[in-house]
Amino acid sequence: MIVFVTGVTAGFGLAIAGKFLAEGHKVVGTGRRQTSLDALKQKFDGAFHPLTFDVRDREAAQRAIESLPEPFREVDILVNNAGLALGLEPAWKADLAEWETMIDTNVKGVVICTRLLLPGMVERNRGHIVNLGSTAAEWPYPGGNVYGGTKAFVHQFSLNLRADLFGTAIRVTDIQPGLCGGTEFSVVRFRGDEARAAAMYEGTQPIMPEDIADTVLWAATRPAHVNINSIQMMPVSQTFGPLAVKRTTPPKA
Ligand SMILES: NC(=O)c1ccc[n+]([C@@H]2O[C@H](COP(=O)([O-])OP(=O)(O)OC[C@H]3O[C@@H](n4cnc5c(N)ncnc54)[C@H](OP(=O)(O)O)[C@@H]3O)[C@@H](O)[C@H]2O)c1
Repeated sequence: MIVFVTGVTAGFGLAIAGKFLAEGHKVVGTGRRQTSLDALKQKFDGAFHPLTFDVRDREAAQRAIESLPEPFREVDILVNNAGLALGLEPAWKADLAEWETMIDTNVKGVVICTRLLLPGMVERNRGHIVNLGSTAAEWPYPGGNVYGGTKAFVHQFSLNLRADLFGTAIRVTDIQPGLCGGTEFSVVRFRGDEARAAAMYEGTQPIMPEDIADTVLWAATRPAHVNINSIQMMPVSQTFGPLAVKRTTPPKA
């Protein structure tokens, strides 16, 4: 299979690319960091094709996809993984430019790559779109505001794609992870503050990128008549809190 993974320069994307390559598939891997992509090309030459573009840039994405050489052109699986959270401030203090970056990356980036690669899948009546959503799509938390909103979009977009694809063999899956370590996600969220990012995972066992890569591979290798609509996964160390209730008097013990 030919697997197109956005955001392979770190985290889940790197693990997903590595998993499919290890299984003998060809991978088109994208990101903005040229040197990381070059290193992957050197390591997996022949099986890995790098594309350097920003998923927010529709024309750059189109140019990159049109440049794919013949052996990588007929993409079977698109993994819309590139994405980010920025900040954890409450909505009235959040940075509006960061909100726009999240919307442009997590919503527009997914829409652009999907729209560019889907026609070929429909034409071949073969394909699978796997989106990286988040538990934040369904479980709000303080400071999740726009990030959660973008991932709710990813979830609903995934379901609506399947509605459009009724009658075709093309599958769509939304993977919704909870707390995951071993990626750059929190360093990016906390704008390079490594100590604050590390504190998120202290004393707990989060999900790791390999767990996500396993799950993507599993969803992509179900029998052709099975569509996994969504998978929500959390580490055992994470679960749901009670709904918050503001009281004017302290509750009786
Ligand atoms: N880690 C978690 O706790 C967690 C939980 C739930 C969901 N997720 C979701 O899982 C996905 C991957 O997260 P991760 O933890 O692996 O993050 P990560 O380690 O920060 O990796 C993000 C990847 O996305 C790429 N990327 C970001 N913005 C981009 C842009 N504008 N254009 C092109 N590529 C871009 C980055 O590459 P470049 O910097 O080279 O462009 C990088 O390869 C995201 O969609 C995230 O929202 C993560």
